[in-house]
Amino acid sequence: MKDIPKLGFGTYGRTGDAGIAALEKALEVGYRHLDTAQSYDTEKEVGAAVRNSGLARDDVWITTKIDMANYGPGKLAPSLEASIERLGLTPNLTLLHWPSPNGELPLEVYLDQIVEAKARGLTGEIGVSNFPIALLKSAISRAGEGQILTNQFEVNPLHNNHKLARFCQSVGVLVTCYLPIAKGRLAGEPTAEAIAARHGATVEQIALAWELAKGYAAIPTSSRADRIASNFAARDVTLSAEEISALDALPQQARAIDPDWGPDWD
Ligand SMILES: NC(=O)c1ccc[n+]([C@@H]2O[C@H](COP(=O)([O-])OP(=O)(O)OC[C@H]3O[C@@H](n4cnc5c(N)ncnc54)[C@H](OP(=O)(O)O)[C@@H]3O)[C@@H](O)[C@H]2O)c1
Repeated sequence: MKDIPKLGFGTYGRTGDAGIAALEKALEVGYRHLDTAQSYDTEKEVGAAVRNSGLARDDVWITTKIDMANYGPGKLAPSLEASIERLGLTPNLTLLHWPSPNGELPLEVYLDQIVEAKARGLTGEIGVSNFPIALLKSAISRAGEGQILTNQFEVNPLHNNHKLARFCQSVGVLVTCYLPIAKGRLAGEPTAEAIAARHGATVEQIALAWELAKGYAAIPTSSRADRIASNFAARDVTLSAEEISALDALPQQARAIDPDWGPDWD
């Protein structure tokens, strides 16, 4: 598959047989992009679901992420080879999951290894996750223009991260939204509820439609078949410019994922 499908399925928590069943359901209702990571323990499940689906390898986009424990010299490529073994396939995209915790390792130590891994064919594309503007700028200048496909970070109407998202778009880096439905926290938000009622949609569909309208990718997850399907149907919701502006102006909440070893956010 050449282009990343904008509405993907997150796999955090989708472990074991129940996880495989949820992933199979996601593929059945039409998702063609699965987002896993070495640290989620779902790479085996992703591989199994893709094989069980009967879909051709080229019909599904698979993203994985390198755990920061595998950033040390000489460690990244062997860890990606182990991911390929667990997945039973070569990922379309591999991300650096976070900047090195507390900035312990210089960026070039792990960035150069993922660039090299791509050159060796261990991944189709490379990208980053949870990278603030300054570090993303450094990554682009070191890896080369056009090399960083995406930056994946927390984005939803309650935490819109507009500054970082605007920077990504200005340099041609795709914004991929994690927590795209704010883990269900949009329920009861008056503006989102009013827009949802107008479209006969859920507030989660409205959040996803807002992200897709901005040209972002989004990777919601659910353990429930009904929600897996209804979230995917957000593709059918078209928001007006006024509705997008109203969602842009929602009161903002603190980021939900903010480890004390994480980067200085913008
Ligand atoms: N790069 C990173 O550092 C990073 C960090 C976090 C997440 N991620 C990725 O992003 C994906 C999504 O993030 P996330 O799972 O944390 O958050 P999310 O997709 O915003 O929310 C998922 C939660 O919302 C519930 N939910 C799903 N659909 C719903 C609906 N229609 N109505 C109400 N509640 C609904 C789910 O519960 P039920 O199962 O009960 O439906 C689940 O608890 C992850 O799976 C992972 O792939 C990446």
